[in-house]
Amino acid sequence: MRRKFIAGNWKMNTSRAEGVALASAIAAKIGASSSVDVAVCPPSVYLEAVGQAIKNSAVGLGAQNCYHEAKGAFTGEISPQMVRDIGCAYVILGHSERRQIFKETSQEVNRKVRAALAVGLTPIMCVGETLDQRQTGKTAAVVREQMELSLAELSSEQMLKVVIAYEPVWAIGTGVVATPQQAEEVHADLRKLLETRYNSEVASAVRIQYGGSVNAENAASLLSQPNIDGALVGGASLKADGFLAIVTAAQTT
Ligand code: PGA
Repeated sequence: MRRKFIAGNWKMNTSRAEGVALASAIAAKIGASSSVDVAVCPPSVYLEAVGQAIKNSAVGLGAQNCYHEAKGAFTGEISPQMVRDIGCAYVILGHSERRQIFKETSQEVNRKVRAALAVGLTPIMCVGETLDQRQTGKTAAVVREQMELSLAELSSEQMLKVVIAYEPVWAIGTGVVATPQQAEEVHADLRKLLETRYNSEVASAVRIQYGGSVNAENAASLLSQPNIDGALVGGASLKADGFLAIVTAAQTT
């Protein structure tokens, strides 16, 4: 049984005080244990403050990115070691905004995934097609290639520690959510790819989140699909009530 996993990707939002208040409200409701995994991913400069706010709760902490090197002359970057040191369990890697705006390639995402795994972080590795790619029938080829390249050279043991997030680019921040059937089709295909590349145990154990305009209203129908194991939530994770409603949907589907 795959444990559902709801993560909030705050992106470049909140002040320090707003972030601490949001995290505190989520932690207060979740408490010390939860039947689903829950995490918040604030901007890196607020990781410590938000980490303090969720300290006595079951809410996990994640970063939104990291570099693949441990240390050195890489101005402006943060290393997986630093992400771990500040108390994170998770790091989002290869988000479509990183791939599109910051030109990250799947090869670079792969270096980051391996560096994150090496220090014990759980990467949340994102894949997803653009609207044009979907409309021209390339969805499966695009997400399969992103996954193959971004997760290259991982052993079964390493693969089991990775969370995949399927986030169609056309659904991110647009209010246009994938239908449960559209999402399920891709999730099932990614799981099939895991079975081909690894084996059925790995394929049935790896969690695949859906992301892209998930909210309190549409969460249950997505999360009730057999291959959708959680959600990576952007906009709707910035309000405690909305985010908690998605967690509740995960707990009850
Ligand atoms: P959204 O973002 O929920 O605002 O669409 C999701 C994401 O980019 O992770």
